[in-house]
Amino acid sequence: MIPEAADRAGDVGMIIPAAGLGERMGGSLRKPFIELEGEPILFRTCRRLASVPGVFEIVVALHPDDLDFFRDRLWDRALASGVTLAVAGGACRAESVWNALQVMSARAELTAVHDAVRPFAAVDTVKALIALARRRGAAVPVSPMDDTIKRIEGDRVTETPRRLGLVRVQTPQVFRSDLLIEAYEYAIRTGGLSANITDDAQLVEALGAEVAALHGGAFNLKITSASDLRLARALLAAGLAQ
Ligand code: C5P
Repeated sequence: MIPEAADRAGDVGMIIPAAGLGERMGGSLRKPFIELEGEPILFRTCRRLASVPGVFEIVVALHPDDLDFFRDRLWDRALASGVTLAVAGGACRAESVWNALQVMSARAELTAVHDAVRPFAAVDTVKALIALARRRGAAVPVSPMDDTIKRIEGDRVTETPRRLGLVRVQTPQVFRSDLLIEAYEYAIRTGGLSANITDDAQLVEALGAEVAALHGGAFNLKITSASDLRLARALLAAGLAQ
């Protein structure tokens, strides 16, 4: 049982951007609402994050077309999963996060941003990211890049960036809230929010502020395609994820 927001101790606010169209998955249901063993992916994700010590608030940004359905039909399940507020998302991920930042309570010294479709983030990793962000201002989970990376145009390879030093970045990304707000305000002033902004740390980097990295674990899967969904089900069935 997850306590009501006002009763939860802590100073970490969580933002879950879940307003994407989910075009890559196919089907009519948006990705966050697709069920994984009887529970919408979004709620599985929120339940996991609500169990992290210090997290007292979870704001989800939803596609505007989903808000009424969510409030009328899913609100009880949302509350039971630790969600405290739902807001309308924007035209791109960064706009959705910015909308959620507007309603984040002033008690949130730290703000974490986590993709709705990553239900398997390990609690110990999230705790470590929170501790690191408290010390250094910003912290992101990364995983090694084992494949060689190519840039292509159509079906033609145009470039092979050096792999040394490259990693993949995951979520949750954790920030001191004042730093994240400053980074968003700077981005809005200088180029605006667009779909080119694919994570939050890049806005903090653009300020010239330090972003610390730690290993995020192999099973923090982002469920983006139908094959990711099959993999997620297989991880659950094999007991490799919960
Ligand atoms: O498109 P991408 O996979 O990077 O999306 C990452 C997350 O951002 C997803 O959880 C998606 O629902 C969310 N998103 C959003 N608002 C948008 C586009 C994406 O909240 N307009």
